[in-house]
Amino acid sequence: MKRVWIKKGKDKKIRNFYPWIFRDEIERKEGKIEDGEIVELLDSDGNFLGKGFWSNKSHIALRIFDREGEDFEDVLKKRFDEAIKVREKIKETNSFRFFYSEGDGIPGLIVDKYDKTIVFQSRIKGIDNLKKKIIEKLIELFNPSSIYERSDGEFRAEEGLDNEKGLLYGNEPYLVKIEERGLKFLVDVKEGMKTGFYLDQRDNRKRVEEIVEEGMECLDLFSYTGAFSLFLARKGAKVKAVEIEEKNLELGRENAKLNSLSSKVDFISCNAYDFLEEEVKKGRRFDFIIADPPGIVKRKSDVEKGKWAYWKILYNSFKIGKKGSIVLISSCSYHISLQTLLEMAKLSASDAGVKVKLLDITFQPIDHPWIIQIPETLYLKSLFLRIES
Ligand SMILES: C[S@@+](CC[C@H](N)C(=O)[O-])C[C@H]1O[C@@H](n2cnc3c(N)ncnc32)[C@H](O)[C@@H]1O
Repeated sequence: MKRVWIKKGKDKKIRNFYPWIFRDEIERKEGKIEDGEIVELLDSDGNFLGKGFWSNKSHIALRIFDREGEDFEDVLKKRFDEAIKVREKIKETNSFRFFYSEGDGIPGLIVDKYDKTIVFQSRIKGIDNLKKKIIEKLIELFNPSSIYERSDGEFRAEEGLDNEKGLLYGNEPYLVKIEERGLKFLVDVKEGMKTGFYLDQRDNRKRVEEIVEEGMECLDLFSYTGAFSLFLARKGAKVKAVEIEEKNLELGRENAKLNSLSSKVDFISCNAYDFLEEEVKKGRRFDFIIADPPGIVKRKSDVEKGKWAYWKILYNSFKIGKKGSIVLISSCSYHISLQTLLEMAKLSASDAGVKVKLLDITFQPIDHPWIIQIPETLYLKSLFLRIES
């Protein structure tokens, strides 16, 4: 196995469980290393720090998956066993993220479980190279009806990799029917956003259903396939779900039908920003407004510009709210910090002339573990806000 030496002083964060070594932190390396090759990392005194996946193309030169000198197969078994233990606590659904890359201790590997269908996603060449072994292990663990690959996304291009999509095992999945706390959803694992469903909003959906009351007028902005909407509707609320992509709305309507909730949810094909402005102009009022926009800020350099999108959503949401209305805003952009989101909430509330109470701050659920020394593992932050006056 080839060796790589890290620059003096740069080993501290690695000893402190951070898994990434950036290219300018590499002191030297042994010969030519292929993309995805497993190498040993040593400190400047030659002490073993760990093993990881090398990349020639990414700005992250090495990603550590082992610190004990074990083979990948042993590490995989150990990490999967740990992942299972964490997920055993997830009740009332047959669908969850089984493996969350760095959060679960193997960089670049995502595995989502939708009932008996598994979705595999590789984000780096190191995982591409080990795909066969990982799939064998997943078959042994879950005996799935199918394993579908969704290694498609911007992250692959950054690694110099082409997208990979397709059936890896079993039957070709079409729409997978899943269940979450008694509601059924159709998930398009082949073409849907992320790997088909926003598993990371599960805890917020529960929280929303606990808060909403019968007869409330609700708005589910950026609704995707209507997951929040249906939980609101089940409690007897009247919901407008606003989404820009027609095919997501279509699936949303199917989901509503599947749960006999079609009469409660109005699926509206519209740009959510325009919709909000129109509702403000019309003087409409809502009791509960949920806004879960797509990742608005993709790069650190976009934060200053991008954070105003949150201001705009919140400002208009406060304008169409009234005393007692609840606003839930989520940001799935890693670069938008909790501090920035809070700052935007404070500013938009002041600009809208309303007093706002912070009811709760939530983060991604336990199947998306946030390792405190790996800031990049935290991406989803949400604020539950209440208009006080
Ligand atoms: C983060 S997802 C929402 C997930 C959803 N809350 C759930 O739990 O399933 C964001 C959604 O916003 C939609 N979208 C993106 N831009 C939009 C816009 N300007 N207006 C309305 N919807 C938009 C995307 O198509 C996507 O379905």
